Amino acid sequence: MSCGACAAGSSMKNQLDRIKEVALKDLENLRTLAELETARVQALGRSSELSQFLRSLKERSEDERRELGALANRIRGELEEQFERAKERLEDLAYAALEKLDVSAPGMKVQRGHVHPLTQVQDDINAIFASMGFRIVEGPEVETEWANFDALNTPPDHPARGMQDTFWLQGMQHLMRTHTSPMQVRFMQQHQPPFRIIVPGRVYRNEATDATHEFQFHQIEGLMVTRTGPGAPSMANLKGVMEHFYQRFFRDPNIEVRFNASYFPFVEPGVEVYIKGSSGKLAGKWLEVAGAGMVHQNVFEHVGYVRGEMQGFAFGMALERMAMLKYKIDDIRLFNGGDLRFLRQF
Ligand code: DAH
Repeated sequence: MSCGACAAGSSMKNQLDRIKEVALKDLENLRTLAELETARVQALGRSSELSQFLRSLKERSEDERRELGALANRIRGELEEQFERAKERLEDLAYAALEKLDVSAPGMKVQRGHVHPLTQVQDDINAIFASMGFRIVEGPEVETEWANFDALNTPPDHPARGMQDTFWLQGMQHLMRTHTSPMQVRFMQQHQPPFRIIVPGRVYRNEATDATHEFQFHQIEGLMVTRTGPGAPSMANLKGVMEHFYQRFFRDPNIEVRFNASYFPFVEPGVEVYIKGSSGKLAGKWLEVAGAGMVHQNVFEHVGYVRGEMQGFAFGMALERMAMLKYKIDDIRLFNGGDLRFLRQF
């Protein structure tokens, strides 16, 4: 190898060292993946100094080409590897930045629901009756014609059936219960007095919807029965229970209760319960709030008790009406309308 070639070769090696050094220095200062790509093209791309260097080798002697070519390719390989590592490092950093928790950022409020106003009112009612020793029981919404009507002293030709427009289930003696009273029947078939129960639940009537009527609503049935004799539940007891309940429910100790004689087939005597209070919707006028009476002996007989052996009272009221009076709600459809502006007020 001639000395001239030696000299030219060593200056070209220096050039390669410098190319490598510059590229590595650039790598150290990279902050983003975009910067990295620019630097990579600059160091290794088609018009980079290194590529130009490699292209220029074809004008060199074979010895030089072999030696410098090998060296340049090794440097290219090393740089490629370094760029690849830098890329991985920057990707890790970008990912970590995404995950970083900014403790000063305003929190994201978790949306929490709350109990529906009707459920709240039902819970209140249950608690008041429970405090008077009433057990809370529930029953089926699909009823037999017998439990919903016949056993309640309402035979097929009875005009009282016409008062309750009924959803009949096709081809069966079944229906969507029109009131919670059939649970009186079911409970008595399975229990012996004494007992006192309330039966909250959904009922159905085939009727047009308006501000005070829904085809589906809720009732609370009440039933207290003992053996006949001194201390057995009387109309006076019924009135006392009603009075206590309404005074506590409406938080108004001035509420008065009045019974108006009325007719329901499963009680005798039967009454409509009216209340008058001193504030809100209850102030100053009598409002009808429930049906009630002494359980008819025919009903006792239908459930298997001996006529004359038992005595008790029953009552029934609508949950929606209670809620509407308490919270001055003037449209029953709001309960199922799903309007959050309404629901959030409770
Ligand atoms: N079940 C009656 C109705 O839906 C309400 C009712 C009246 C229930 C008198 C009773 C009662 O328990 O004694 O119209």
